[in-house]
Amino acid sequence: MTKEPKRYLITSALPYANGPIHIGHIAGAYLPADIYVRYLRLLKKDVAFICGSDEHGAAITLRAKKEGQTPRQIVDHYHQLMGDAFKNFGISFDEYHRTSSPEHKEMSQDIFKKLLEKGSFEVETSQQYYDEEQKQFLADRYIMGTCPNCSNEKAYGDQCEKCGTALSPLDLINPHSTISGNKPVLKETSHWYLPMAHHEKWIGQFIKEGILDGQQHHDPKAWKAHVVGQCMSWVDGGLHSRAMTRDLDWGVPVPLENAEGKVLYVWLDAPIGYITNTKVWADKNGKNWEDYWKSDDSQLIHFIGKDNIVFHCIIFPIILKEHGEFNLPINVPANEFMNLEGDKISTSRNWAVWLHEYLQEMPNKQDEMRYVLCSIMPEQKDSEFTWTDFKDRVNNELADILGNFINRVFVLTHKYYNGVLPARERVQDEDLQLQKDSIATLQKIGEKLEQFRFREGLMEAMNIARLGNKYLTETEPWKLIKTQPDRTATILHECLQLVARLSIALEPFIPYTAEKIRQGLNFSFNHWKDGLQEELLKTEHSIGQLPILFEKITDEVVAFQVAKLEASKSTAVASNVNPIKENIAFEDFQKMDIRIATILEAERIPKTKKLLKLKVDTGADIRTVVSGIAESYNPEDAVGKTVIMLANLAPREIKGVESQGMILMAENEKGELSFLTPDRAMNPGNEVK
Ligand code: 2FM
Ligand code: ZN
Repeated sequence: MTKEPKRYLITSALPYANGPIHIGHIAGAYLPADIYVRYLRLLKKDVAFICGSDEHGAAITLRAKKEGQTPRQIVDHYHQLMGDAFKNFGISFDEYHRTSSPEHKEMSQDIFKKLLEKGSFEVETSQQYYDEEQKQFLADRYIMGTCPNCSNEKAYGDQCEKCGTALSPLDLINPHSTISGNKPVLKETSHWYLPMAHHEKWIGQFIKEGILDGQQHHDPKAWKAHVVGQCMSWVDGGLHSRAMTRDLDWGVPVPLENAEGKVLYVWLDAPIGYITNTKVWADKNGKNWEDYWKSDDSQLIHFIGKDNIVFHCIIFPIILKEHGEFNLPINVPANEFMNLEGDKISTSRNWAVWLHEYLQEMPNKQDEMRYVLCSIMPEQKDSEFTWTDFKDRVNNELADILGNFINRVFVLTHKYYNGVLPARERVQDEDLQLQKDSIATLQKIGEKLEQFRFREGLMEAMNIARLGNKYLTETEPWKLIKTQPDRTATILHECLQLVARLSIALEPFIPYTAEKIRQGLNFSFNHWKDGLQEELLKTEHSIGQLPILFEKITDEVVAFQVAKLEASKSTAVASNVNPIKENIAFEDFQKMDIRIATILEAERIPKTKKLLKLKVDTGADIRTVVSGIAESYNPEDAVGKTVIMLANLAPREIKGVESQGMILMAENEKGELSFLTPDRAMNPGNEVK
């Protein structure tokens, strides 16, 4: 375990390039990493802050299919959108590269080959679902069927989203391919598996005790309890082999001759992206990437959300250790989830605040969002973002506490001293105390950041402004200017030191504001520890004008954002509506003979759940129609109904009964059916045109 590392390699989870970034992502994996990195840079540490887009996997190909685009088009679009949004929000990656790049193909294939040579994988053959029409194996998300647990007919091959049960495609009842709609067949396929059970012992020791290869690698108490807890429940439950390859036509090809149509599993190639992207950055900047990944005076820290814990704490470390040359993470300070206005953030339901939209709608308010997200960061448990809370925190904390203090100091200095820092002339205990307390607070912020306690760190930074406000209120320099000008000078001298100290303390959290304050002060600094000095600004230093730091957020803004979210809910419902089918010719429509009919009799067809046998008066004749409506109508409720019927549908035999036509029904999202009854009196045989 290195006490004082020479280098830091900090990563944030590579986001999937299949949708934009939302504020939940930011609070989870990007803002904490950025704050930490900014702090390390102020300590003049050698840091590489690495991220990039995760551009492979079924999530991308699925999105592409849905939108009628190629995976390349999808990832190009989102890579650009996400990269720009991160940059605009001040997430200061040293590199934001992409896993569909040639550099990444080379790096991940090299690592795969090295693991093959070492015998780290086992080849296993199994039966997997295959779509014969599309001629492809079906990734778990490409198969839908009925959940064996709750009978939801739209369960995916890996999970039923209705009851939450984790599934394997073979568990599904009536599976069908989401690409063709066909029933898939089982076909044999071989894959390279990581036999995780072989690693159970050392990985358990690594997580629980921080021991690696018999040596203390890290302090396990420095890891968050929920991270260790989640990992140990996996390890204690027994680790199972996991396929590291997939049958898919989008991804890094398995670099072997007999592996056509196979790519690396996205969760193998994505974390290798951290390595690729470090190399890309190092090559551009005259650095050696291996110094960051392979030397024991470098520390690796992964910032992620809680859904990625197992991959970063168990699977990727196994890969790294098997490879033999790489460092394992010294910490993985994963965050929990942030909810939004009482509901889980959901990309598919469009229940999110999208970062790029926020940046457009509220330009130059990066720090307001950074401040609020850091204040409610889900460090130990899930948290919640609401627009009202956003408004309150910006108005009552940023504007009323921070902005107000700094503004008062600037105004008084300009008013009494023409903007020139007055000398300390009569120092009292309260002045010395202020100095001491604020320096101690700055030190405390550093300690909090080193422990990944960003919320507390930010609170301490705000405490410096609170100290300042209290001091001003208690000393009242505006009352002393006539009678004790030496006291007023001293008080403002102290306050300006505090403002300068604040501009350092706030730099990791709200860097745009910190910079504005420094510009107003005509002040610059070099090192975090500069803030621990007593005199940051010298007597006679001239300050400039302070730009407006924070505008108050109005109720209208809150109402607009909440309404926008509510509206997105209805768009999400609309997006569940099946697309309109291809156009047909009017002649095709005319071929259908649609009539008003009356149901005369109805009875259940034995041994079926859905079918009723109906006797129907079409005006022209009385016929039998079999209808799949039994889950929506009891036989007695159907009798007497005036309905609409397709009268010239060719007769079909259903469960041994000849059905002569079809009753037309409407179906809602829940699968409930409804008769279409005419709005005014109609008789059997009347035509529908
Ligand atoms: O959950 C996700 O969004 C994944 N794309 C995270 C990958 S992190 C790393 F492994 F690249
Ligand atoms: Zn279910």
